[in-house]
Amino acid sequence: MNSFQRRLFSTTVPAASKVVITSGLVPKRLALRWLIKSLKAEKRTMVNRRRLESLYAACSHLLLPDGSFVECGVARGGCTAVMAFVARGQRPVWGFDSFEGMPALTEEDEGQGKKAVGVVAAGPDGLQDAQRTLDRFSLAHKSVKLVKGWFEDTLPHYATQLEPIAVLRLDSDWYKSTRYCLETLYDRVAPGGVVIIDDYHAFIGCRKAVDEFRLKRNIHGPLITTDARSEVRWQKV
Ligand SMILES: C[S@@+](CC[C@H](N)C(=O)[O-])C[C@H]1O[C@@H](n2cnc3c(N)ncnc32)[C@H](O)[C@@H]1O
Repeated sequence: MNSFQRRLFSTTVPAASKVVITSGLVPKRLALRWLIKSLKAEKRTMVNRRRLESLYAACSHLLLPDGSFVECGVARGGCTAVMAFVARGQRPVWGFDSFEGMPALTEEDEGQGKKAVGVVAAGPDGLQDAQRTLDRFSLAHKSVKLVKGWFEDTLPHYATQLEPIAVLRLDSDWYKSTRYCLETLYDRVAPGGVVIIDDYHAFIGCRKAVDEFRLKRNIHGPLITTDARSEVRWQKV
């Protein structure tokens, strides 16, 4: 990195401005580093840098099949922005969220995370807030779609319309939501596609949902830990 680039990427842009980070003039690794730094500095994601980088790596893998990037649990849109950054309008990107806060826990969650129930991660204008994250970094291509609603209401409809999924990222924390997303979307994941579970090591219910689902469906592909405190992924064969 030369001194100009060092200066450029050691800063974040003023909150009011909108920036183009995919101009092709800037090396992609540098643009990514800058995007992640800005998303974190502006609190547009709850996900840490390690997981954002791992998301980038999964989405930009050379052998990834054709298809869309899908996130269930968007909140303020930081991870969806990273997906859109990789897709560059060449792949559809879908983000699903109630934008109304976390649903109630079930007994499988064993009380974990009860403080978050009803908390709206993205604030009162959740959908618009997530949209602003995409706009801000000029990532709101028309192939990037945010869908508001409870998974139980939206996914059955969209699951039949979605293109095959190349990367499915589940970040909805609790047992019921994680299980529901897997039951509804896993068959849409293309062979060679990647499933990322943000909260596997963080929430008992999430882990239970994934373990039960994999057992039921005879999925033996190794679960790879990408963040020891939180995230795993596996590749569909
Ligand atoms: C931990 S946050 C997602 C964080 C986000 N990926 C990021 O980059 O910061 C979890 C989100 O899942 C959503 N969510 C959880 N269960 C849901 C359900 N059953 N239907 C719709 N949205 C749900 C919540 O509204 C919340 O915004």
